[in-house]
Amino acid sequence: MPGAVIVGTQWGDEGKGRFTDYLAKEASLCVRYQGGHNAGHTIIVESEVFKLQLVPSGVLYPWVTPVIGNGVVVDPTVLIKELDMLEARNIDTRRLRLSGNAHLIMPYHQELDALTERYLGKNKLGTTKRGIGPAYADKALRVGLRVQDLLDPKIFREKLDLVLREKNAILAKVYNRLPTDVNELTERYLGMVPRLAPLIDDTVHLVHEALDAQQWVLFEGAQATYLDLDHGTYPFVTSSNPVAGGVCAGAGVGPLAIQRVVGVVKAYVTRVGSGPFPTELLPGDAVGDLLVERGHEFGTNTGRKRRPGWLDGVMLRHAVRLNTCSELAITKLDVLSPLEELKVCVAYEDDSGKRYDHVPYHQSILHKVRPIYESLPGWGVDIERAERLDDLPAAARDYVRFIAELTGVHVSFVSVGPERDQTVVLPRAA
Ligand code: GDP
Ligand code: IMO
Ligand code: MG
Repeated sequence: MPGAVIVGTQWGDEGKGRFTDYLAKEASLCVRYQGGHNAGHTIIVESEVFKLQLVPSGVLYPWVTPVIGNGVVVDPTVLIKELDMLEARNIDTRRLRLSGNAHLIMPYHQELDALTERYLGKNKLGTTKRGIGPAYADKALRVGLRVQDLLDPKIFREKLDLVLREKNAILAKVYNRLPTDVNELTERYLGMVPRLAPLIDDTVHLVHEALDAQQWVLFEGAQATYLDLDHGTYPFVTSSNPVAGGVCAGAGVGPLAIQRVVGVVKAYVTRVGSGPFPTELLPGDAVGDLLVERGHEFGTNTGRKRRPGWLDGVMLRHAVRLNTCSELAITKLDVLSPLEELKVCVAYEDDSGKRYDHVPYHQSILHKVRPIYESLPGWGVDIERAERLDDLPAAARDYVRFIAELTGVHVSFVSVGPERDQTVVLPRAA
């Protein structure tokens, strides 16, 4: 049963969208299994830029069925806008399948997300304020509304009425906000049903039909390993499980359905929002500025500047374990081209000089560790036009080999620019 997962190994924005797009050409289904429109996935094909939040990145191929799985949280307004945007660019979106079990993001989720952040003050998480956390919280509390509820207006209204009693009390009494009107909100959501109903489907069934027919199913991760609710730098994480294991619950397959796990590794690291980041290059650092500028490191949707840093081999090794990566795809190697010296963190040390070769489980330690770097020579020439491994300068090949040796995992792809075809494929040694 040929399932493949694309998963981010860092804090997001590694280039998952571009590799999902690259690999989707072989697939029949491309499935999002978690997250929501907190994601921003960029694909560039012949200078045309697509920025996707909810629609899976396989949508550009007419033979691929894009699927929004049960583990995703969906803001239907955003979904419809995204479908309109794609339709306006001649991409047929009628193939999209939307799980009836996916949970809906409601306006009060977004409001509560923003309010919680405000109340946290300087301890804020730096969320995308898309309502992701409150929507997943309601799912776990069992007061969430699901996509399938839209198909039964009476049920939808009853459930919303029930949940609004509590939400409105919280909004009014804790946060001093205006209550949400059940009639107005019911009308607004049911008004979207004619557009959404033809897309709603039993996506678990679709995935299994494809797997049974030996077709490739590509599962597209959003966010990344260190934003994972269980394995990330809690509480500075998102509220879902982006790790490869999240596919099982979020799309409805067992682990044996997955054959390939492609860990996407940006050649350096970025992080948006708050939280520990051992290899961070602080504002004012010339290398950090260069990475942000050359890598255009600003949020795809939020526009926020991403925090830059050197590649963290300690975290990468752990990510390879957490996801059981079968291979890696390195992105943005071209961004490093002007640097004379490259650093890769191979271990940490704390104030007492104690060395850590693994990510310390106690976060108070992670907050304080210093990275121990190994230096590698830069290559100093442009590599954007490289098509094969041999086209890369020796120092660039050494950097790639260093990552493969550090992790013990084959590097299958290296990208040298944002375009679909700026991808170097590295065959496994026979
Ligand atoms: P995702 O969230 O993991 O899909 O990544 P994003 O799309 O948020 O961020 C990756 C950014 O880097 C996008 O603007 C891509 O167009 C760009 N990008 C992806 N791969 C490369 C690459 O190899 N080189 C360069 N220079 N840019 C890239
Ligand atoms: P893609 O799929 C980078 C970060 C937010 C914040 C934390 C929690 O494009 O890689 P949330 O809104 O999810 O409750 O915010 O997670 N975050 C991302 N950072 N890329 C993303 O998605 C992200 N999605 C959420 O910045 O720190
Ligand atoms: Mg992104």
